[in-house]
Amino acid sequence: MDALSAIQNRRATKRFVTEPLPQDALQKLLEAAYDAPSGANRHPRQYVVVTAREDLDRLAGLHAYCTWFRSAQAALAVLGDSIKSRYWLEDCCVAAENVWLAATAIGLGVGWAAIYQSDDAQETARREDMVREILGVPGTLRVPLLLGVGYPAGAPPARKRPPLAAMVHWGRFGTADSSVTYTLS
Ligand SMILES: Cc1cc2nc3c(=O)[nH]c(=O)nc-3n(C[C@H](O)[C@H](O)[C@H](O)COP(=O)(O)O)c2cc1C
Repeated sequence: MDALSAIQNRRATKRFVTEPLPQDALQKLLEAAYDAPSGANRHPRQYVVVTAREDLDRLAGLHAYCTWFRSAQAALAVLGDSIKSRYWLEDCCVAAENVWLAATAIGLGVGWAAIYQSDDAQETARREDMVREILGVPGTLRVPLLLGVGYPAGAPPARKRPPLAAMVHWGRFGTADSSVTYTLS
């Protein structure tokens, strides 16, 4: 699959079949993360690959929006060293997107489980500490997100998003087509 097709076909996947993932598929995803850009080329990322059912089930209990880890066959915890780089968060997110696209290209589904919440330091700390406890991550590393991976069980629901024309301003802000209406529900 070419890059544009992977971008267009990528979806948040929250239902997976029970088939385990081959090691070489996980390796491909890690290499896609490795190939991501890094602010100031500092590469502050670390990854924990989780395949033990018991750990995946524990990760499913992190919050209400990641219970789907119960059917995921693997999780990838993307960790950032905030001492090594001020761009740790961006670096982790851009690596996560690389993984998501690579997974799409090889027929895997990925779900994103938010750990970092920019408006809630307390909830972020609760989630991070729980991941640290489950996966043995040192307190010096941040845990902005987890990815759940597996072969998708069926097609995802139809995609919902605002139209591009409502978001793009050509030349100056204020030129987007404000007549475009949309609902996300
Ligand atoms: C920063 C970020 C945080 C997200 N957090 C969660 C989450 O905690 N749980 C979840 O099920 N999906 C999460 N998602 C997935 C989004 O809900 C999903 O990308 C969005 O609904 C659009 O669907 P699509 O990815 O299929 O286009 C997250 C995505 C991003 C980029």
